[in-house]
Amino acid sequence: MRTKDFRGKHFITLQDWTREEIDFTLDLAGKLKQKFYKGRPHRLLRDKTLFMMFFEQSTRTRNSMEAGMTQLGGHAHDLTPDKMQLSHGESAKDTALVLSRMGHGIACRNCFYGIGNTYLNELAGNASIPVMSLQDDLYHPMQAMADLLTIQEYFGKDLKDIKIAISWAYATSHAKPLSVPISQILLFPRFGMDVTVAAPKEFPLLKDMVKTAQRNAAENGGKLNFVDNMDAGFEGADIVIPKNWGGFANYTFDEYNANEDECRKEMKANLEKHKDWICDERRMGLAKPGVKYMHALPADRGNEVTPAVIDSPAAIIYDEAENRLHTAKAVMALTMGGRRNDHVR
Ligand code: CP
Repeated sequence: MRTKDFRGKHFITLQDWTREEIDFTLDLAGKLKQKFYKGRPHRLLRDKTLFMMFFEQSTRTRNSMEAGMTQLGGHAHDLTPDKMQLSHGESAKDTALVLSRMGHGIACRNCFYGIGNTYLNELAGNASIPVMSLQDDLYHPMQAMADLLTIQEYFGKDLKDIKIAISWAYATSHAKPLSVPISQILLFPRFGMDVTVAAPKEFPLLKDMVKTAQRNAAENGGKLNFVDNMDAGFEGADIVIPKNWGGFANYTFDEYNANEDECRKEMKANLEKHKDWICDERRMGLAKPGVKYMHALPADRGNEVTPAVIDSPAAIIYDEAENRLHTAKAVMALTMGGRRNDHVR
């Protein structure tokens, strides 16, 4: 595999990236991490420009991308809809075509249910430069790459039969998108991991995504199981990832967007039935000795997780957050590297 094989490749879902491509990217992330620690320059994207469009708030994604571009020798524009003509209805097509003439990569976060992934694909369908997801309603591939690198750092590269609990958890902060757990169930079984999803029946993941994840598991020697009990999910786990997600998958995209207020009310009522879905020391005790606690952050302290767990040595959340930087840099360096794309005559 050569770096030029990645040039111009979109990064919207890891389903479109082969195992070999993911391994190569993680390997580069590890090398860039070493250079970062040693203070060695690694200006692989000198004079290049990334346009970042954020429809929602972000701490880790925004700063890993922007700091990453600076460290790679380029520059990132931090854009929000209010700064762009898309707030006056400019199409994704025109936005993508224009930005393609001015820079080297487009990155976008749009998590609106039933809208975000379609919007990103519309950008990608029209751009002549790579389009990277900063999270949409279905996928968060930047997070999944950082999670995988973190897991490999703690458990080694052979992850066969490493047991992971991806659990729903109660939160009052906001109904979090489905994209983190979906990206994890799609990716981890491809690396042979034994994944259990624990969630109340009112908080399923999307059926089509589950089917694809089951296929990934079957084809790659991984496992994927579902339980509706947090304790059962934690039993014997090497890693636990308890995190809230909204009950979006109970509705089709059309239903949700036609009746968003009603759906949100129903989701809130369902949420309040499950206040006891918290990651605490008792539940950590059900997992294997030495279990690691992961969370994409931001965490809802006191609701998703107790301070005694999130502030304990079991928590590897800051390594996970830091790895957002190194993996994002690898993805950007590979997809945006090399010569300008072919629309430039
Ligand atoms: N995990 C994550 O995507 O964090 P931000 O929302 O802060 O970017």
